[in-house]
Amino acid sequence: MLDHLTIVSHPLVQHKLSIMRNKDTSTAGFRRLLREISLLLAYEVTRDLELTTTRIETPLEPMDAPTLDGKKLALISILRAGNGLLDGILELIPAARVGFVGLYRDPVTLQPVQYYCKLPDHLEERISIVVDPMLATGNSSAAAVSLLKAAGARNIRFLCLLAAPEGIARMQQAHPDVPIVTAAVDSHLNEHGYIVPGLGDAGDRMFGTK
Ligand code: URA
Repeated sequence: MLDHLTIVSHPLVQHKLSIMRNKDTSTAGFRRLLREISLLLAYEVTRDLELTTTRIETPLEPMDAPTLDGKKLALISILRAGNGLLDGILELIPAARVGFVGLYRDPVTLQPVQYYCKLPDHLEERISIVVDPMLATGNSSAAAVSLLKAAGARNIRFLCLLAAPEGIARMQQAHPDVPIVTAAVDSHLNEHGYIVPGLGDAGDRMFGTK
């Protein structure tokens, strides 16, 4: 069982995150570091996966070797920044099924509005890992998890790079059953909903847009 909140304090993760935070880090560097960190975060978010055994033969003798139990994992990327984490995780878990959720914030109500949703089937039998680098207000993350639950998902975890206390509180209030794994919890959100000190707009930094 994962804790409600896991902060991955591994020195490699912290070092890479610090370089990503630096405003002088290039788009190419940011993207490469995000892919590298996503492998290390994926290791943590999957550390309690259940194992079964499969009968194999080594060159020396037969053995019951540990292998992952159950249906293939579902990775759900919240567009567009989630794709930066997704690419690295797929290198580690190439057989995972992948879903995408697109949400934008209504300028008047400030509530998330869905514009795209394509999810893998049989979610009720899979572990789903929702990925988004920045857990800021938590509104879109909570909405994405609600969509997954409505589609049948029962076993969900949330993986991000940086979290704000406000986003963690929002997720824990809306979805107390969803463990959160992150590399760091920062100080607060500013008046524009950005994480402080943060790293800026993750989508802009990874795709080189403004
Ligand atoms: N999304 C981002 O990309 N950055 C933030 O700081 C908050 C939300």
